[in-house]
Amino acid sequence: MRYVKIENAQQGMKLAYNMYDSAGHTLICSGSILTDSYIKRLSEYGFDGVYITDELSDDIDIQPIISPKLRTEGLVSVRESNIDKCRNVAKEIVTQVLNKGALSLDLTDLRSFDGYTYAHSVNVAVLSCIIGFGMNLKDDALEQLVMAGLLHDLGKLVIPQEILNKKGRLTPDEYEVMKTHSTLSYEIIKERWDISAQVKAAVLYHHENVDGSGYPDGIEFENMTIFTRILHVADVYDALVSKRPYKAPYSPYEACEYLMGAGGIMFDPKVVEALLLYVPFYPKGTQVKLSDGRDAIIVENSGKRNLRPLLRLMDRTMLDLQDPANYNITILHGANEEVTDPSIAEEERKKMIVPYRKYRIMIIDDMLINLHALRGFLQNNYFLDLVTSPRQALLQLKRQTEPDLIILDMDMPEMSGIETAEKINGILGGSVPILFVVENNDRGVMAKCRRAGAAGFIVRPYKPAYVKAEIKRILMGRSVAE
Ligand SMILES: [Fe+2]
Repeated sequence: MRYVKIENAQQGMKLAYNMYDSAGHTLICSGSILTDSYIKRLSEYGFDGVYITDELSDDIDIQPIISPKLRTEGLVSVRESNIDKCRNVAKEIVTQVLNKGALSLDLTDLRSFDGYTYAHSVNVAVLSCIIGFGMNLKDDALEQLVMAGLLHDLGKLVIPQEILNKKGRLTPDEYEVMKTHSTLSYEIIKERWDISAQVKAAVLYHHENVDGSGYPDGIEFENMTIFTRILHVADVYDALVSKRPYKAPYSPYEACEYLMGAGGIMFDPKVVEALLLYVPFYPKGTQVKLSDGRDAIIVENSGKRNLRPLLRLMDRTMLDLQDPANYNITILHGANEEVTDPSIAEEERKKMIVPYRKYRIMIIDDMLINLHALRGFLQNNYFLDLVTSPRQALLQLKRQTEPDLIILDMDMPEMSGIETAEKINGILGGSVPILFVVENNDRGVMAKCRRAGAAGFIVRPYKPAYVKAEIKRILMGRSVAE
């Protein structure tokens, strides 16, 4: 079987996997032939794609980590906020994950918008289990961790749908409401004597970052339990690869780049490392574009083949990227990935779910090479003002219309980033968010930046995927995992 994005699904294709609604009821059975009305309906439900079977993919077998039946039971238990049922599901998830010979997250979970929270909770539970397994946690600890995954977003069930699924930018007030959900989840379970303190803490703190910039309490690495740190990574990874009303899904490769880029800022790098062991960058059955212009389907990707998979071209011939004769061919991007070619980027933009507005970003850095590096991957999506001198930037800010975001280098000989930020806030009244670029994640420096109103941090050397996601997070007024 293979994965086809919903916009590429065609009448006559044969479904290879059941499609479920948010209550776990079957919408369309595996083996059904797609019709235009099915495709339209699935698209309205918010599904990003479907698994089909055809002669290009009849030998590609993709195994789910947990059975569809167990996934449905998980959905229902979360939907009903039934803690006893969740406990049974948690046990069974651990059993099924441990019984799997080779763990690999190849199968994309197919989800509708309205059932996002339930499906997300089950996914986070499974991902947490896999990470915990990779970090050698014992079986009973895994069960607790999975339980925390199932319960972590219960509080979202009482957050208004207009905020949860809002297409555009959240207002600061709306974001404050959104942020109450982890405390609400905790409130629901805190009186339960049969739920351990570890689980309760992980639920309450699943949006805390290791650098202290998370919520609700801003605790740091040392005060985050291993459950909390695992749950946080699992939560963000699943949110990134999901399609949401306000964003397209990240490819697994991009999501991994993001997690690595945010290691030490948001996440415990050891936890990220454990997840990376099981994430195929190019999942089996997905379609990719090659550097020679051809399209291909991923047939085999395990172990060393993660970066150089075995492929099938559209004319059915096989192409092995591990063969030295093919070393000159690279995978340009997955079907979902952001592309850097301006003409393709423009096409993608037209297809975006949220009406597109091109934001203006001012980048202040005394090093030209740094400005050029950022320009390289931002110029297709934003209007950029590149400025090498803080004084020049201050002059421009007095005269011109204000940008939507400022990216500011911390170490500049003329004036430090902190001083520059304070002056900018003096001119603009703190209305423009500032993203600091720092040399390392020194807590003291970060605390100073935060006092100067930092909206976020980029640590050098940075990952473009992380920088792009941070910019989006700030411009959209919501964290990546919401
Ligand atoms: Fe959450």
